[in-house]
Amino acid sequence: MSTDTSVFQAKRLVVTGAAGFIGSNLAHWLRVHRRDTSLVCVDALTYAGNLANLAGLEQDTGFQFVRGDIRDAELIGRLLDAGVDGVINAAAHTHVDRSLLGGDDFAGTNVGGVQVLLEAIKQRPEMRFLQVSTDEVYGAQGPDERADEETAYRPGNPYSATKSGGDLLTLAYVRSFGLNAVITRCCNNYGPFQHPEKVIPLFVTNLLAGKPVPLYGDGLHEREWLHVEDHCAAIVCVLETGRAGDIYNITSSERITNLELTRRIVEIMGRDERSIRYVQDRPGHDRRYALNDGKIRGELGWRPRHLFADGLKQTVQWYIEHQDWSSTVRSGEYRNYYERQYGRRIAT
Ligand code: NAD
Ligand code: TYD
Repeated sequence: MSTDTSVFQAKRLVVTGAAGFIGSNLAHWLRVHRRDTSLVCVDALTYAGNLANLAGLEQDTGFQFVRGDIRDAELIGRLLDAGVDGVINAAAHTHVDRSLLGGDDFAGTNVGGVQVLLEAIKQRPEMRFLQVSTDEVYGAQGPDERADEETAYRPGNPYSATKSGGDLLTLAYVRSFGLNAVITRCCNNYGPFQHPEKVIPLFVTNLLAGKPVPLYGDGLHEREWLHVEDHCAAIVCVLETGRAGDIYNITSSERITNLELTRRIVEIMGRDERSIRYVQDRPGHDRRYALNDGKIRGELGWRPRHLFADGLKQTVQWYIEHQDWSSTVRSGEYRNYYERQYGRRIAT
């Protein structure tokens, strides 16, 4: 149990990666639940960043958007000097399949970008920093295992290796320079505004387009699924009450196989198993992620509010109702990616 009861209440927060899936949901969440905290939302607007995800916030006087790269030390320094007292880093290159294709600069942002932020915060020791990380740094867990915060890093792909690098740097800056930093490691998220390269929006939008859904390998890989709003609440809970230098796992503990997930999506959309296409597996595909998040629940009192069965139905419905949003995202660069990723993928 934590004995430190201090609570950090941000006056002005920088949220990086704010035009992405989690960052944009976090910006909306904060403007609803933390009205006294003003936001400086930063995003490089890579293929994954979409200003439409922040629609509705433009007129809000507590919201500002800056197009910028977390690797730009000069820009970051300038932003932090404008009355900012905390930074949440949700900027990253995030897609495992792209990291396997070797295209985007995963190390540049997920390691180098984190170091730029840490260097900037080192110059401003009163600042609070939260690094948004992932359960993937622990790698695959055995049938009866669940990773807790002490479990060793065993990243299995370039994405999770670079996320591990960002975490290690954060912990090193805490130890070497006493930074007031915390790390969260969450399971798979679902909800609105997720890029349709990720499995749930990909499968829904494929089915809407009358296409089959490509299930990797035997489909028996297991993931835990948390609604993005629950993740946002957990991030803010850790930002406000987490112990400096600590890591907090976050999960719903609702773990299912990809096949079960696919069947549920197919059923919600009124299709049948003929829509499922088993395709060649992802190289090095982690078999099973499983987290123990007793620490955030026991010490900080966080609990998820959404049940996966309900949240999945609402999320599928959201993508059905926002086909304009997904068709814009699926045009241009995405088409090239889809062709590279699935065009020659052999059905099994
Ligand atoms: P996302 O790909 O949807 O969004 C990432 C955002 O970061 C994009 O808007 C992109 O433009 C921006 N970005 C990339 N490089 C940048 C740079 N150099 N400077 C500024 N902005 C940059 O990803 P997401 O799913 O929202 O993930 C956000 C964070 O949450 C990541 O750190 C990821 O590892 C972590 N996470 C995600 C999940 C999940 O299921 N999506 C689960 C656990 C943890
Ligand atoms: P994804 O959404 O890419 O997230 P992550 O790799 O970060 O967990 O994939 C979730 C799971 O779905 C993962 O086990 C891989 C699987 N998957 C498929 O079976 N087919 C697909 O086309 C995609 C994108 C993922």
